[in-house]
Amino acid sequence: MKASAIAPANIAFIKYWGKADPITRVPQNNSVSMNLSDMYTTTTVEFSETYDQDSVSFVGEKVTKDHELRRVSRALDLIREKAGSNLYAKVVTKNTFPKATGIASSASGFASLAVAGFRALDVSLEEKELSLFCRALSGTACRSIPDGFVEWVAGSGPDDSFGKTIFDVDHWNICDVVAIVTTEMKKVSSTDGHAIADTSPFYEARMSGLNTKLASLKEAMRHRNFESFGRIIEAEALNMHAICLTSTPSLLYWSPTTVAVMKRVTQARQDGLACYYTIDAGPSVHVICSEDDSKDVLAILNNIEGVERAVVNRPCRGAHVSEEHLF
Ligand code: PMV
Repeated sequence: MKASAIAPANIAFIKYWGKADPITRVPQNNSVSMNLSDMYTTTTVEFSETYDQDSVSFVGEKVTKDHELRRVSRALDLIREKAGSNLYAKVVTKNTFPKATGIASSASGFASLAVAGFRALDVSLEEKELSLFCRALSGTACRSIPDGFVEWVAGSGPDDSFGKTIFDVDHWNICDVVAIVTTEMKKVSSTDGHAIADTSPFYEARMSGLNTKLASLKEAMRHRNFESFGRIIEAEALNMHAICLTSTPSLLYWSPTTVAVMKRVTQARQDGLACYYTIDAGPSVHVICSEDDSKDVLAILNNIEGVERAVVNRPCRGAHVSEEHLF
């Protein structure tokens, strides 16, 4: 009763920031993302009568934090409930990138856990049901299930809030060159950030402009209009971080290197290189450019002091079963 799965992290072009329901993780607004080919999580799950409790380990880390174990165990409870099983599980998981630094490790982590867990218990779910299930585990995990470019439709409640492909992997050969800025985990979790989003005096203004922005973004993506797309995603990232900064308490996810990268990207653009940044809830910066320009962007980012390394990602398929087990 062992199975493994791989799930990509994803980068949001329109951000999910604020929940309509904190328990089921139904969001306030639709969001749009791209799966990241080179930033992913592999998870192996084994259910067995020989285990008398759940165990979780991250490859490369000596101890698992209590709150991480509790969250994974709660997810396993939901998997067991759906599968009608009462067996404990051993979970081993491995990321290709550091956790909680503005790269969606909970998305790839929980999406891979769900796919591996259900396969191990021989339960097969359709994509929509799997995405709905993953949303309840960790909101953005619902966007790591479908392929390519994904929209998470907020929906009217927990039964119709899920991610679906809006453009396939091959629709557009853009890249996300991620500047990993620190391996230190962020101090304020995004769960806490979502909870205070509406304390910002600008939150209502953000919400009122969101549907128009969403429509313009999808139009730009449909026509592969890179300049229009880039302007929208950069403005959207700044909009979300303006909400963070003006929430009570104020949240600043950036480090000095984050700002250095933002400025360098603006400069590179003025010098004629078509690239735009976006930032999730952490200090890492995602720089979006064409496949052709990705080498130049990579070289620029690797040259900035404070950037630990930069990684080129292409659009890719969503979560899937893997035959390679971690134990
Ligand atoms: O999935 P969470 O709760 O960590 O939310 C993170 C949300 C952002 O990454 C900041 C934006 C997004 O839509 O991915």
